[in-house]
Amino acid sequence: MRERLTAKIRKILSPEEMLPLGGREAKVIAVSNQKGGVGKTTTSVNLGAGLSLFHHKKVLLVDMDAQGHIAVSLNHLAANGRGIGQVLTSNNGSIMDVIVPTDVARLDMTPSDHSLLEAESGLAGKIGREFILRKALTRARTYYDFILIDCPPNLGNLTVNAYVASDYLLIPCDLSALALEGLEGILEVVDTVNFRLNHPLKILGVLATRVDRRNMVMNETVFEKLKEAFSDRLFDTQIRINTDLNKAQLAGKPIFLFAASSAGARDYRALSQEMIERIESDTSPVRA
Ligand SMILES: Nc1ncnc2c1ncn2[C@@H]1O[C@H](COP(=O)(O)OP(=O)(O)OP(=O)(O)O)[C@@H](O)[C@H]1O
Ligand SMILES: [Mg+2]
Repeated sequence: MRERLTAKIRKILSPEEMLPLGGREAKVIAVSNQKGGVGKTTTSVNLGAGLSLFHHKKVLLVDMDAQGHIAVSLNHLAANGRGIGQVLTSNNGSIMDVIVPTDVARLDMTPSDHSLLEAESGLAGKIGREFILRKALTRARTYYDFILIDCPPNLGNLTVNAYVASDYLLIPCDLSALALEGLEGILEVVDTVNFRLNHPLKILGVLATRVDRRNMVMNETVFEKLKEAFSDRLFDTQIRINTDLNKAQLAGKPIFLFAASSAGARDYRALSQEMIERIESDTSPVRA
């Protein structure tokens, strides 16, 4: 009798709920900007590596972009072609099933896969579609200190899923004339997530990326406007243009293992320090 009952309960419980808890409580951070090519993936990978290498944190990188650039940046293929798309399109999927280690100690990743594209459109008709990633991360949150979600360059269902699964939003932003245009759209989605979906997502910071010190006039104009709009939410750390960052991505390595004394390595190390300080000084509760 008891055995039959256990079998029934097992059926009701998802694989996610049957996994043991890991004893940590990850802060989840969505790295997002609908503008393409502003350094979302570069920031996710190098910030994640910085947190694990210099702060000894356990970090998970979640690739929510069907382009699969996290795996490329870390020279990894999905284990058996399995990835996060499959988790999101199945009922009761768990991220824990698709986590793979990287060459950096304490840094793991979940690759994207082809069904992530299907997930973007397939989620549209599902009840509770905004909460699927959040649920799939429940156990993973207990195994990591930080989970960084690399978002696609749009504000579709996958990005909304990432926002609802996150405590904080980190917005990489280049300092070009068009940079400010997309930010309003992001803030609208944050409002929807906060008020309509009742999830307290906070802006951790806006990060100036691809800063070109030889083009100071344009850079400073845009930077001043960002400061006006975001004041203390703008990170003091800026990420300069540095071709080593590009070369490291092509070589499939975090910048610290590719060019440890480059400007890119220094900037991302400074960012990991500033980010930790910001989060540690944030004492308000982040989960509803
Ligand atoms: N600070 C930088 N200096 C030089 N090159 C950079 C820098 N940041 C990123 N890059 C390069 O710019 C390109 C775009 O960067 P990345 O892939 O991180 O942007 P993204 O916002 O994730 O793009 P997408 O919107 O396509 O996902 C890549 O080739 C990357 O190597
Ligand atoms: Mg990217």
